[in-house]
Amino acid sequence: MTEHFVVKDDGAVRLIRLNRADKKNALTLAMYAAMTEALQDANKQNTIRCVMFAGSPDVFCAGNDIADFLKAAQGGGLDPRANDFIHALAHNEKPLVAAVNGPAVGLGTTMLLHCDHVVAGPGAALSTPFLKLGLIPEAASTLLAPLRMGHARAFSLLVMGRPLSAAEAKEAGIVNTVVDDPAAVDDVAFKAAQEIAALPPHALAVTRKLMRGRMDDVLKQMDAESAHYKKLLQSDEARMAFQAFFARKK
Ligand code: COA
Repeated sequence: MTEHFVVKDDGAVRLIRLNRADKKNALTLAMYAAMTEALQDANKQNTIRCVMFAGSPDVFCAGNDIADFLKAAQGGGLDPRANDFIHALAHNEKPLVAAVNGPAVGLGTTMLLHCDHVVAGPGAALSTPFLKLGLIPEAASTLLAPLRMGHARAFSLLVMGRPLSAAEAKEAGIVNTVVDDPAAVDDVAFKAAQEIAALPPHALAVTRKLMRGRMDDVLKQMDAESAHYKKLLQSDEARMAFQAFFARKK
């Protein structure tokens, strides 16, 4: 288990907290593996009825660690752990709640499209700068985002990389509740997770499965995205964008 990640069961709710605040909760390979394990294990535990993701007070998640992107671009190839996590999200059987404060970048945003209930603080900012990095969107977001918010808004987010504020994300149907007090976001999300966890489990599982009926399409889209993503990760423009990120303060 990595120290950049905390998993804690509180009653019927499993809390998965990203804990790498000094790097804005950018996701390392070890964090992906730990999150996959926590989700897969939750599927097996009858006592866990809901899973909640949370970040730090000032940031939800800065997406994939760009140092790992750079290693992949310099010839290391794409490690499967990020893809495994994305598949674990899609196959997850327990309802997913997220508490979002501050930036949610890249996978930090696209993972929210797999969540059932999202609570955001006033400073939440959802963005997917994939194209600016020479990449394409992942986690089936090219399917799920247009379905959720319509092509025009999805294009602005996914392709143009324009961020959504908390209020815009609510209007776009990604966020359920915007909480005025950033310090209250985790509590409000946890109460929603408890409310969901208290529902009759069989009826809950069946309803959720019916509502996520396009799962075959989601998995196909993930595979299609992934094939392009792997190639683009090796491109000169992606490598140069990753290097530019680390050179930006110099
Ligand atoms: N991968 C690796 N390191 C990252 C990171 C990422 N995705 N995001 C942030 N960090 C690191 C920074 O390099 C910096 O490290 P340092 O203190 O050693 O220099 C530290 O986290 C703080 O980041 P900083 O950019 O100074 O914080 P900020 O508050 O000004 O901005 C973000 C926060 C999240 C908006 C900004 O860091 C960002 O845009 N990150 C990149 C997000 C991204 O493009 N992710 C990939 C999506 S596909």
